[in-house]
This record gives sequence, C-alpha cells and structure tokens, in this order.
Amino acid sequence: MIHDLGSGTGSMGRWLAARLPGPQHWILHDRDAELLRIAAANMIDSAADGAPVTVETRVGDISRLTAADLSGAFLVTASALLDLLTKEELGAVAAACVGAGCPALLTISVTGLVELTPGDPMDAEVASAFNAHQRRTVRDRRLLGPDAVDAAIELFSRLGAEVLVRPSPWRLGPVGVADEPAARAADEPAGRTVGGGAPSGAGGGAVSGAASGAVNAALSGAEGYAGEQAELIVEWLTGWVGAACEQRPDLTEAGVEYAARRRAEGAAGRLGVTLDHSDLFIR
Ligand SMILES: C[S@@+](CC[C@H](N)C(=O)[O-])C[C@H]1O[C@@H](n2cnc3c(N)ncnc32)[C@H](O)[C@@H]1O
Repeated sequence: MIHDLGSGTGSMGRWLAARLPGPQHWILHDRDAELLRIAAANMIDSAADGAPVTVETRVGDISRLTAADLSGAFLVTASALLDLLTKEELGAVAAACVGAGCPALLTISVTGLVELTPGDPMDAEVASAFNAHQRRTVRDRRLLGPDAVDAAIELFSRLGAEVLVRPSPWRLGPVGVADEPAARAADEPAGRTVGGGAPSGAGGGAVSGAASGAVNAALSGAEGYAGEQAELIVEWLTGWVGAACEQRPDLTEAGVEYAARRRAEGAAGRLGVTLDHSDLFIR
C-alpha cells in the first residue's frame, strides 16, 4: 500500500507507480472529492514490471491521519503539499508517518528562492512579497510556505527519522537561459543550496483580489512567447506577481509595469526562470 497525501488530480501516482516494480495499491487522500474522482479515473493500472496497480480514494483532512490510518503502508508520498500546511499540521503528518514505521517521499516543496534571467531591479522585492504571501495567516492558520522544508526536517528528525534532502529545480524558459548567471531574487539567506519545482506552491495560477487584478490583466495572453513553455511561464508569472501585489498592495502600480517588462522579455525568448524546490526522503 502506498498512501499519497494531498494527491490532487493524482500526478504523483501516475508518475511513481510506473517506476516501481511489483503489485501496488495506492490510497489517494485529499479533501477535494472532485479532484480525487479525476485522480482515480486517470490512475495507471500497471507497474514498471507489468504488475497490477489498483487505486482507492479517501476524502478528508490529511492532518487528522493517525499512524493507525497508515498502518501496513509500504510508502507515504506527497508532492507540492507541505507549504500549504501549518507547523502543527505538518507535525501531525510526521507523527503519523513515523508512527506507522514507513518511509515517506515528500517532493517539490518550495524553498522561496527564485532566479530570473536576465535580472531586474524589482525581482528581489517581488520575491520577498510573494514569500510573505506564502507565509500568511489564513483563518488563524499560519501557513509554512517556504519554511516547510526546514520545518519538516526539524519535525521528522525530532521523531528519530533520517531526512535526506535533495534539490528539485523547476526550470522554465528557453533552454540555456535559466542556467546562465542570474541575479538571485529572494529574501532567504545567501549561499543556501536548494532546488526548484512545481507550479502550485510556486504561485501557479492567477490570484484573486483587487491588487492582483491589474497584474493579471497586464499578463493575459501568451502570444509571442518563444517555445512550448510559453503558457506556463505566463501562468507562473501571473500568479507570482499577483500574489506579491495581494500581499503588498503598494507594489501594484510598479508590479503592473514589472509584469509587462517581464512579458516583453518572454516574448523575445529571453526570460529564464528557475524555481527552487526540495525533495525529501524520510526513513
Ligand atoms: C498544490 S496541490 C498538489 C496536488 C498534487 N499532489 C500535485 O503535486 O499535483 C495540494 C493538494 O493538497 C490538498 N490539500 C491541502 N491541504 C490538505 C489537507 N489538510 N487535507 C487534505 N488535502 C489537502 C489540496 O486539496 C490539493 O489538492
């Protein structure tokens, strides 16, 4: 049995089940029943060696899972989830995993580090505001955002587990551009070596709210972007700048101009983005 926590539409199961040999039964957990329906309908049915893969879904809050709920599991997985939790909720997940005595693969957690090439004077301020947005308090829940990786290391280690951390960078843009030397835009301490990842925790999707509305309008449409990642770059940029302006409404005017500048660079095929994320394997 493999439990995938916060499975959404099931990307982890589709990716990993095909890479593992042997019969597998996946249990997908999410609080959104519609996402689980899509995940179950799209799950693959054969493992790396052709063995059968079966799936079931469970609707609920993953922070309420206990060791008994995960009993008998071979592995617990999650992707793009940790930043959405509070430290208390992550602590409960850690206790359930360690209590069940099974390893956990927790992938693509945002670290807060973003590199854009070429650099822009506003990069650091937007990155800082975005990270503050990720750490915001929602209905008395203080989200971990880019603190999630450190929190997971602390919480799992405290329970006696070994935590392996590996970079998982998510690179967008023309091949090669994101790998050129770039201004580092982040509010994290310099010199920390981390990786990049996926859109959800990284601000993918438009952000609602008056401040972000102007930014979203400035970014709408992907025509002119070079390469097949054009729409993804626009979507990420829209969410990233929009969330920053939602957090710091005073940035909105400059944010609209910044977004337009970045779009022009993308249109010219010159915008590269590296979003740092980390993968954790815990045993
Ligand atoms: C950013 S999405 C990631 C989905 C998927 N793991 C992926 O990588 O594509 C986070 C998912 O976690 C779910 N989620 C967040 N907090 C949760 C909680 N406390 N209990 C159950 N599901 C939760 C959300 O509904 C959403 O589907």
